[in-house]
Amino acid sequence: MDIQEFDCIALAKEYDSRHPGEILKLALESFDNLAISFSGAEDVVLVDMAVKLKADVQVFSLDTGRLHAETYRLLEQVREHYKLRLEILYPDANALEKLVREKGLFSFYKDTHKECCGIRKVMPLRRKLNTLDAWVTGQRKDQSPDTRAAVPVVEEDAAFSSADHRLIKFNPLSNWSSAQVWQYIRDNDVPFNELHNKGFVSIGCEPCSRAILPNQHEREGRWWWEEATRKECGLHAANLDNDK
Ligand code: ADX
Ligand code: SF4
Repeated sequence: MDIQEFDCIALAKEYDSRHPGEILKLALESFDNLAISFSGAEDVVLVDMAVKLKADVQVFSLDTGRLHAETYRLLEQVREHYKLRLEILYPDANALEKLVREKGLFSFYKDTHKECCGIRKVMPLRRKLNTLDAWVTGQRKDQSPDTRAAVPVVEEDAAFSSADHRLIKFNPLSNWSSAQVWQYIRDNDVPFNELHNKGFVSIGCEPCSRAILPNQHEREGRWWWEEATRKECGLHAANLDNDK
């Protein structure tokens, strides 16, 4: 398919109320050079749906070096369970060594998560996205009323497209609630992160994710020392208007 002709706005409207599986089907049928970005949390439902449509679908995870042991175990479990083509991406060693040499291992508690996420997640993600026509994420509107309330099921990636590289971003779970995701996990016996048994809802890096209490919003378990309206790490920077 000619990527320049892919009409994100019309398709986002047409597919807005469709099942995530149908949105994934559109993604996989439209683009060969596409990969799923899998965080090792409840977005495993995307992997389950995608392998049923295309067994050798490309999936990648960003290993920040700071993930929980439970997340590493799930990544391997998912790789084996689905016989998955799972690619693990690492941060640039020089940039990371410089950050840690100058600011230590916990700089994010003092000067926000932006720089650390930039090196550990956004740079490796950019490297990967530069090789793709389209990517698929597990973002959902209900994950963050502050930053994700308007996430369309398909969009042109405003943060990672450039003048000579148009990148399409699919968010098939955008309109699903957390309850629907978990119903799917149970109905389909999908492997899940053991941290979910320990009170974690939203899972990222170990120093920056924590369990939440009943009725706390899931985003309160992420970067809890920072303002709610800034809780995006740069992977989905276009959700923050002034970071575009
Ligand atoms: S984050 O931006 O706050 O870290 P979140 O944890 O909500 O993101 O996950 C939203 C989506 O971003 C995931 O479903 C996944 O597509 C992508 N993502 C987040 N973290 C990673 C990761 N470490 N590796 C790959 N994809 C990720
Ligand atoms: Fe660094 Fe925390 Fe961002 Fe992970 S979530 S990359 S540890 S600031």
